[in-house]
Amino acid sequence: MNNNTFVHKYVRSLIHPDDLTVDMTAGNGNDTLFLSGLSRKVIAFDISEEAIRRSKERLKGKNNVVLIHDNHANVDQYIHEKVRLFLFNLGYLPNSDGSSISKGEDTLSAFQKAYTLLEDMGYIVITFYLGHRGGKDEFYLLDAYIRKNRLQITETYSQNKVNSPVTYIIRKG
Ligand SMILES: C[S@@+](CC[C@H](N)C(=O)[O-])C[C@H]1O[C@@H](n2cnc3c(N)ncnc32)[C@H](O)[C@@H]1O
Repeated sequence: MNNNTFVHKYVRSLIHPDDLTVDMTAGNGNDTLFLSGLSRKVIAFDISEEAIRRSKERLKGKNNVVLIHDNHANVDQYIHEKVRLFLFNLGYLPNSDGSSISKGEDTLSAFQKAYTLLEDMGYIVITFYLGHRGGKDEFYLLDAYIRKNRLQITETYSQNKVNSPVTYIIRKG
């Protein structure tokens, strides 16, 4: 099972129909579409204009989705209510030049703001791509922060191969 399949299986049981969820990396819109079927409302960010275009196309007809073309590190400028679950699927837009690859510092800043916006017992689900350019440094930065601050990792998932992606499920409280 790949990480995306694991995430979709796991996350299904964490969301209630009246929840607000946030997709921090909309990409092709697949995860946003998945969240829109489970939540009252989904807010989805992407830094790439092409990703927003693709997501718009993928999410045609879905009236509970708001797409935001901005760095997810600015999440606190857009969201002023408590969130049940944030999803980060890091790395770059598939089938692109890779220029919109996620960067550790932005990811850390977005993660910290997301944690503040989470409701009690809410979740952050984050998948790291260790084989991507800068992917290991991004993972080490976030992992060190999570451990130093003793955040609750309730589940981890990785296929045991060199540089396999790693998913953490983090619960607030
Ligand atoms: C692996 S893709 C996401 C896949 C997507 N969730 C899907 O279901 O298709 C990673 C996405 O993160 C976006 N991204 C990277 N850094 C970002 C940032 N700082 N803010 C917002 N989006 C970012 C990229 O543009 C890319 O579209």
